[in-house]
Amino acid sequence: MTLAFSQNQLPQADGLVVLCPPGEYSDPTKPLDGPLADYDEALDGHLGRLIRERSFKGKKGQQVALHTLGNLPFGRLLLLGSGKATKAAHWLRLGERIGEAAHKGRWQTLAVLPLLPDRAAQHLEPLARSIFLGCYRFDRYKAQSEDDPDPVTLTDLTWIGLEETSHTSALQRRLGPLVYAICLARDLVNEPAGAMTPTALAEAAQSLGGDHLTCEILDKAACEKLGMELLLAVSRGSVEPPKVIHLTYSPPNPDPSLPKVALVGKGITFDSGGLSLKPSASMKDMKCDMAGGAAVLGAMGLLSSYEVRCEVHGIVPACENMPGPNAYRLGDVIRSQQGPSVEVTNTDAEGRLALADGISYARSLGCDRIVDLATLTGACLVALGPDVAGVLGDPEDLCRELLTAADRAGEEMWQLPLLDELNDQLKSQVADCKNAGARYGGTITAALFLKKFVKDTDWVHLDIAGPAWADKARPGRPAGGTGFGVATLVHWLKNLEGEG
Ligand code: BES
Ligand code: MN
Ligand code: ZN
Repeated sequence: MTLAFSQNQLPQADGLVVLCPPGEYSDPTKPLDGPLADYDEALDGHLGRLIRERSFKGKKGQQVALHTLGNLPFGRLLLLGSGKATKAAHWLRLGERIGEAAHKGRWQTLAVLPLLPDRAAQHLEPLARSIFLGCYRFDRYKAQSEDDPDPVTLTDLTWIGLEETSHTSALQRRLGPLVYAICLARDLVNEPAGAMTPTALAEAAQSLGGDHLTCEILDKAACEKLGMELLLAVSRGSVEPPKVIHLTYSPPNPDPSLPKVALVGKGITFDSGGLSLKPSASMKDMKCDMAGGAAVLGAMGLLSSYEVRCEVHGIVPACENMPGPNAYRLGDVIRSQQGPSVEVTNTDAEGRLALADGISYARSLGCDRIVDLATLTGACLVALGPDVAGVLGDPEDLCRELLTAADRAGEEMWQLPLLDELNDQLKSQVADCKNAGARYGGTITAALFLKKFVKDTDWVHLDIAGPAWADKARPGRPAGGTGFGVATLVHWLKNLEGEG
């Protein structure tokens, strides 16, 4: 997979995509100019005719496609309207549309010519990444791929009109690993829960490539020894043993001024709800409940390619939440070792229990900055819709850092307040706290629960219950796991070093 840059030379390619800002392309009184005029001439006026027929105005997502019949160095020409795309998330969606065209058209080589090169250059990473991800499919359980029995994967992307800089050459080196990491995170989520058990997830962590990365798997006995009572309680209803994945990235040239970071990912490989059993419709896609853990594995595998210079620990407390005969009960009180005792009032609020032990473990390693990612609450979907992650944490500056990184990466996140007042909802008659609050403010009370274990460590919680999983496909992105969070995490880590 390669990314190349060309000042204005048109390369030989299967397809050329011209990204067109809003404009009067179809106005018959205004002739086409610039490269579009050149192509129109080479195509005997066909391009202009088609543009007028379709009344192409460069609106967001609007397309004009044609065959060049050997008259130009590229086989197909696609004009894609960029609309008034401003933020990275908009450009990412345009990239997905380009990726869709490349996949459907079976293009192996593609050139992209943005008519507003400076604007597109600002969002080059999310654009290029989503173009390559347009070829992602999860069809290992199908006899034949549905849309194309013999799919072709895009291998070469040439970006026209940009000069090579240190920024572009860093991207050239990192784009392949980034795309690979997101595909891995998607695969881990898409794999059925019967196959992607805690043990299988741990094996995936052990086989992660990446230099300067070590992996330790804590099995059930190790969890017992460490007193991970909350995780063990959740796990008890399942025949699958729990695992805690602990990846350590030790940079070859550490920068001592940087923090020691922990990335903690929820690793519930299947969430039936336990004895507080979910209805079928809500349980159907709960293999996605380890998406936070998958994003952490994806990001950890990338750190050496990104030349990250701080020590990073990737921690994934992994287990299944099942209603087996030994399942934890409602009303049980669990004594955590490094936090409050917890009365279980809802066994479906299991993620925060598993995460709490992961967070305590991160603290025991001496990590001074914790970012957790979790498909934690349905309430977050109610609040922010299916495409936006909730951001809650303390201090405020750290929340801002993640919001900024997400903004650059084209992943939508929105901050919710960590309201102390809602702590009343977690008060218990018999224990220091209970694990579930009332319905209203469910995302906030879940974060407040985690905060009891975070104590005063710098921490941000990303509730990815919505964006980690796509119910429906959209052009260039199939339904299922999305790999959400991987890109934001590496942007954030590089921003810590002043490279943004
Ligand atoms: N894994 C779910 C949250 C979830 C819901 C993720 C929808 C993805 C899509 C979580 O474990 C859960 O069940 N949360 C409960 C908490 C409640 C019992 C306090 C919820 O959101 O209903
Ligand atoms: Mn649950
Ligand atoms: Zn869950």
